[in-house]
Amino acid sequence: MRKRTGWYVLAVLVAASGLRLSQDRIVGLAATAQVAKGGVPDWPTYGGGVAGQRYSGLTQINASNVKQLKVAWTFDAREEGGLQTNPLIVGRMLYGYTPSQKVIALDAATGKELWRFDPGSIGRQPTRGLSLWTDGKSSILFAGALTNLYALDPATGQPILTFGDGGKIDLRKGLTEGNPSNEFAALTSPGVIYKNMIMVGFRAPEAEPALHGDIRAFDVHTGELRWTFHTIPHPGEYGYETWPKDAWKVTGAANNWAGMVLDEKRGILFAPTGSAVNDFYGYDRIGDDLFANTLLALDANTGKRIWHFQAVHHDIWDRDFPSPPVLLTVHRDGKAVDAVAQTTKHGFVFLFERSTGKPLFPIVEMPFPASDVPGEKAAATQPLPTLPAPYARQMLTADILTTRTPEAHAWALEQFKTFRSAGQFVPFSVDKQTVVFPGFDGGAEWGGPAVDPTSGVIYINSNDLAWTGGLTENKPGGGVGSTLYQSQCSACHGADRKGSPGAFPSLVDMDKRLSDTAIAEVVHTGRGRMPAFPGVADARLEALLNYLKTGNDPAGSANTSSKREAESEAAPAVMAKYRFTGYRKFLDTDGYPAVDPPWGTLNAIDLNTGKYLWTIPLGEYPELSVKGIKDTGSENYGGPIVTAGGVVIISGTIYDRKIRAFDSRTGKLLWESVLPYAGNATPATYMIDGKQYVVIATSGARDPKGPQGAAYVAFALP
Ligand code: HEC
Repeated sequence: MRKRTGWYVLAVLVAASGLRLSQDRIVGLAATAQVAKGGVPDWPTYGGGVAGQRYSGLTQINASNVKQLKVAWTFDAREEGGLQTNPLIVGRMLYGYTPSQKVIALDAATGKELWRFDPGSIGRQPTRGLSLWTDGKSSILFAGALTNLYALDPATGQPILTFGDGGKIDLRKGLTEGNPSNEFAALTSPGVIYKNMIMVGFRAPEAEPALHGDIRAFDVHTGELRWTFHTIPHPGEYGYETWPKDAWKVTGAANNWAGMVLDEKRGILFAPTGSAVNDFYGYDRIGDDLFANTLLALDANTGKRIWHFQAVHHDIWDRDFPSPPVLLTVHRDGKAVDAVAQTTKHGFVFLFERSTGKPLFPIVEMPFPASDVPGEKAAATQPLPTLPAPYARQMLTADILTTRTPEAHAWALEQFKTFRSAGQFVPFSVDKQTVVFPGFDGGAEWGGPAVDPTSGVIYINSNDLAWTGGLTENKPGGGVGSTLYQSQCSACHGADRKGSPGAFPSLVDMDKRLSDTAIAEVVHTGRGRMPAFPGVADARLEALLNYLKTGNDPAGSANTSSKREAESEAAPAVMAKYRFTGYRKFLDTDGYPAVDPPWGTLNAIDLNTGKYLWTIPLGEYPELSVKGIKDTGSENYGGPIVTAGGVVIISGTIYDRKIRAFDSRTGKLLWESVLPYAGNATPATYMIDGKQYVVIATSGARDPKGPQGAAYVAFALP
C-alpha cells in the first residue's frame, strides 16, 4: 500500500502546478490541497493510483450522507458509442476520451470543456484511461488512440512534437519485420509511468495474424525504446521450451491488454497477459505457452523477469487475465505482508507475496480432462487457489437452468441436454457445444477490483452467465471471402453470421443498414470488442464484402486477376483444421440469461483471511423488475471504487443504467441514481475547492435498445 501522506499531497500540488495551468487554477489547487486532509484530492492515475486500488482517502461523501448525492454537472460528449474510461483528475483538470477516441480536458468542477485533441484517426477502440508523467516542473499526458501512443501537453492538448514521430509512437513499429500498417495493436488500457519511462502492453487480435505481445518501456521525452520483455520467449530465453521451436516467430498475442500496476518503492511492474493466438485451437502451440495467461513481475528498470505465475497452461478457452492486478498489504500471523492480488475470468482471486511470488493461499494443480480433438493437447493440470472460494458459479447443471417461465425453462433444458457441462477447463469438442461458466466475459472483467488498504478487503464485481463454445472443421476449398470471414470474423459473428445477441451483432442483411464504405471502416478500425483488420484491403476486402452480403462466394464476383491476388493472400500459410464456432451467450428465447439468477454480483472478500464479508446481486433488468422478478443481478462491465468514507461506488449494470453506493462493511445499498446511459466504466472521485465529486463515464453502446449517446456525469453533496 502506498501511504497517502501530507508529503504526497504536496507532491501532487507541485506536480499539478507544473502543468502550466492558468493562475486561477493553481490557486484553486492550493485550496484543494488544504482541505484534503483526509486524502489525496486527485485521481492522478488510472485506477486511482499506480497500485491499482481504486481507493480514495476522501471522506466528505460517506456512508451517512451518500444518499444525498445529486448531479453536479453533466458533460455531453455529443457522440454515440462506448466509453470505458476511468478519467484522470489532477488539480481542476479532468482528462478523458470521447467514444471516437478524441482526448478531452474538462474543468472537473463544472464539466466545461477546456480543450479537445482529435488524433485524426477514425477510432472506436475502447480507451480505458490515460497516464500523466511529471517531474514537478513539466508534465506530459499520454493517450492511446487506435494504434498510436500520443504525448500531449496537459495544458493545451497539443502533441509534444519531440516525442517519437512528431508527438506519437505507432505501437506496431518494431513488432514485425513486415509492414506494420497491415497489423493491429491498440492501447486500450493506459501505460504505467515509472521514472522517465512509460510502460505499455496493447490489445491484439484473437486469431492469426497477431503481433507478439511484447511489453515495452519507452522514454517519456523521446519515445525511444528503453526495454522489451518477450511474452513469447525467443531461443535461449526462459520459457522458450514451453512452445514449439518456431512459435516465437509464427504465433502471436500473449499480450497485456488489461493494464498493469507498479510497486514504485521496489520498482516492480506487475503485468497480467492474455491468451496466445489462436484462442481456441492450440495445435500449433503445443506446450504450456509461457508467458501467455501469466501474471508477470518484471523489474521496472530493465524489464527483466523477477517471478511469474501462469494461471492457465496452454489456454484453449480465451481465459485471459481480464483485469489489472492490485497491490495491498495483508496481515499474516501478526505480520504485515505486501501482496499482489489478481482476479480472473473463471472466478478466482490469486494472492501472492509481492517480491517473491509465493502464494499466500495454497494453489493446487488440479487434473482436467484431455482433448479429443485431433492435433490438440490440453494441459493435464490447471492451478486453482484453495482460498478464497470462487465469486462466480463453477458448474452449470440442469437444476440451475432458468425458471423465469416454464417455456424458457423447457427450451433451456432442451439446449442444455445437447451441451457438455463439466465445470472449468473442459477442452472443446468438434461439433458439440461445451459450457463455459462463468462465461467468456468472466467472472471478473476489465473494470478491475477495488481494495480498501486499511482493511485488506477486495471488492469484485462479477458476471455470472453461462456461455458455450466449440470447434468445427474448416472445409477446404472455400473462396477468398468465406476463408477470410471464417478465419477472422466467425469467432465473434458466428459461422452463420448471426452473431450472438447482446454481445456480437448479427451481420446478416447488414448491407441493408450499412454502406460498403461504412462496413470497410468498421473492418479497418474496429469497434468496441472488435479489433481492427487494417490488412484486409483491396481485392480481399472486396471478396469479404461480397461474402458478407450474400453468404457465399459467387464465382466471378471479383475480376479474375484481383481474385487470384486475393486468393494468394487470404489463406494463412497453413490452414488450421478446426475453427471456433463462435462465442455463444446462453440466453433464453426472450434474450435473458438461460441460467437462474444472480446474473451479476458484487463481492467483498477479506484477503487477510480469504473469507467473504458479503455477496449481493448487482443490478436488475427493469422490465423484469416491474413484473416482480427483482434483484436478479445484471451483466456488468466497469469496476467499483472504495473510499475512506466507508462506501463502495459502482455502476456497471447495462440495462438499469444505475450508479449505486454500498456500505463497504455490510453491502447495504445506501444510494442509487439512474444515469443517462449505462455506466460501463469505473468511477473516479476527487476534491476541488472543498467539494468531493464522484464522476462516471456513461455510454449507450452495450444496450442497442436503450438510449444512445455518451456523457460524463459528476455527483456531489448539495
Ligand atoms: C473479437 C470479436 C470480433 C471479431 C473477431 C470481429 N468482430 Fe465485428 N464486431 C464485434 C462487435 C462486438 C461489434 C459491435 C461493436 C460495437 O458497436 O460496439 C462488431 C461490429 C461489426 C460491424 C458493425 C455492425 C453494425 O451493425 O453496425 C461489422 C460490419 C463487423 N463487425 C464486421 C466484422 C468483420 C467483417 C470481421 C472480420 C474481418 C469482424 N467483424 C470481426 C466483434 C468482432
